[in-house]
Amino acid sequence: MTPRRVAINAENGRYEVVYGAGVLSGAGRRIKSLGQNTGVFLLCSPRVARHWRRKLERALRNAGLRRTILFDDREKSKNISTVERVCRELIRAGADRRAVLVAAGGGVVGDVAGFVAATYLRGVGLVHIPTTVVAQVDSAIGGKTGVNLPEGKNLVGAFYSPRLVLADRVTLSTLPPREFRSGLYEVIKYGVIADERLFAFLENSLEALANRDAKALDFVIPRCIQAKAKVVSRDEREASLREILNFGHTFAHAFETATAYRNYLHGEAVGWGMIAASRLAARMGLLAPESAARIERLVRRLGPLPSLPDARPSRLLEIMHADKKTRGGELRLVLSRKIGSAETLGPVAPKLVVEVLGHLGRQT
Ligand SMILES: NC(=O)c1ccc[n+]([C@@H]2O[C@H](COP(=O)([O-])OP(=O)(O)OC[C@H]3O[C@@H](n4cnc5c(N)ncnc54)[C@H](O)[C@@H]3O)[C@@H](O)[C@H]2O)c1
Ligand SMILES: [Zn+2]
Repeated sequence: MTPRRVAINAENGRYEVVYGAGVLSGAGRRIKSLGQNTGVFLLCSPRVARHWRRKLERALRNAGLRRTILFDDREKSKNISTVERVCRELIRAGADRRAVLVAAGGGVVGDVAGFVAATYLRGVGLVHIPTTVVAQVDSAIGGKTGVNLPEGKNLVGAFYSPRLVLADRVTLSTLPPREFRSGLYEVIKYGVIADERLFAFLENSLEALANRDAKALDFVIPRCIQAKAKVVSRDEREASLREILNFGHTFAHAFETATAYRNYLHGEAVGWGMIAASRLAARMGLLAPESAARIERLVRRLGPLPSLPDARPSRLLEIMHADKKTRGGELRLVLSRKIGSAETLGPVAPKLVVEVLGHLGRQT
């Protein structure tokens, strides 16, 4: 397969996402072609490095690799002290304003390294090499970077575009099975909100995709990248179009919060969230019941989801009200009227949300 290239038109410049099998080995050449740099610094985590360090370092050598810096990529280490540690290592390693940081890993590595690139010496070059499904279809694209505070997730950050994104399908082969499957819920999300053909493909080939079939991945991942590119290119800030990426996420966030982020991988919570949002849209008469059933069937085919939180529906609703999309106390949600499109709609009657949440555990 020849690599697929998708252009992102960001506010602060244009960059390309290159997807393919083996694009990692051409990383050095592609980084060199971005222009002169005074040194390349590989930022990675021990877990990703275990599988990919040798390949990464070999690929980056001819672009001027100076140092590999590893940091823990558990969500609890996605914080300001990790940022400080990495910045100090960069200074000691002699990274100057024309250095290029290469972030190789999942969303945590990308978000931390991206924030470092945005702020170290007020900004240095950044290249993403995303190695999870989530990172390839979502977090490496769109320029959002940041870290968590004890008070909440992603509360400190910056918009900062990479110069290049290299998504190598082969890196997904070492991803733990639950992580891989969890990322596929976000893939289903793109089908629902932006790409009916993708949705239909998933209905036909979900099992092949779940088994990491190369052909299935080569169809699906570029289409998701395309979908994200379309949404973020016209509108890099958190405005209305970008909001549709949050389909299923207001519910998901309530499930994650109610279980203190311990029960679900993020994608799994999004799986439940998409079922809830589809049932709600059908209940409101916005989405045909057959379409809601199609979405639910597809989500459930990925495997059993961890059980729902014990919290009462009214408590979950309270958490949902804290969402950024709430206006003047009125709940607004991203809903789909038709598979392949979505929009933010509201106010949504709290009674209906509680009703949907109350029945969510039951199959329709
Ligand atoms: N910036 C954005 O726009 C954006 C979008 C979505 C998510 N995020 C953030 O991304 C993070 C989640 O990212 P994620 O889902 O990629 O999870 P992750 O970064 O936590 O990675 C998941 C696990 O897989 C391991 N791993 C990564 N690549 C691997 C590989 N190729 N082989 C073996 N193991 C590998 C990691 O070490 C980790 O244990 C969250 O912090 C979330 O806030 C950001
Ligand atoms: Zn998500």
